[in-house]
Amino acid sequence: TMDNDLNHTDYTFGFDTAAGVALDAADRLLDTARSHRRILVLEVMGRHAGWVALHVGIAAGADWITLPEIPLDTQAMLSALRRKRERGKTWGLVVASEGTELPALDTDDVQLDAFGHASLSKRAVGEYLATEIEQSLGVETRSVTLGHVQRGGTPSLFDRVLGSRVGIKAADLVKEGDWGKMAAIQGTEVVGVDLELAAGTLKTVPVKFWEEAVSLINK
Ligand code: F6P
Repeated sequence: TMDNDLNHTDYTFGFDTAAGVALDAADRLLDTARSHRRILVLEVMGRHAGWVALHVGIAAGADWITLPEIPLDTQAMLSALRRKRERGKTWGLVVASEGTELPALDTDDVQLDAFGHASLSKRAVGEYLATEIEQSLGVETRSVTLGHVQRGGTPSLFDRVLGSRVGIKAADLVKEGDWGKMAAIQGTEVVGVDLELAAGTLKTVPVKFWEEAVSLINK
């Protein structure tokens, strides 16, 4: 999965490729942000885990990142954007995870997909944040929701190697009759982990990773 939200594996194949597509989009959006002195909000996928938004935000040098795991502090985001403008930075980029909790947005009639998951793309998190930013800062702000573009394309080198290595492990587990396992990568080691452990609970972004990102962006 591109969400990287399985436990007991450091990465899931698809994540690096999807994050790479989103980073390319972020880099391209920064050109317009700079040329038009705007703030751009890029909404990325990831469902209820913020791994894509966290990595893309750090890599793109975003001015703010919103994650499903961290309650949105709109004032802190606006203050950071305002502070940077006061220092002369005439453009800005916010990377928003589609699963960011926005109480104002979440109503009872959230649409469910065929698997019973909340369909997050309809929540328009990026649009909501762009409106908040433009109204509060008086700066032209646009939002882009990347959507399913993130899920396709040529796999990155990392994902090609990871996919090959976990594929070998999966075949070995079958040969050994070691059923009920997922091939996982831990550090550089490829191991078999119980499916229940891997998929029983979501691997979400720990607060310490958010704090690390904030130390970079909230200056
Ligand atoms: O779980 C992978 C994923 O791409 C999520 O990041 C995204 O929210 C969801 O699937 C989209 O699902 P669908 O294709 O059903 O709209």
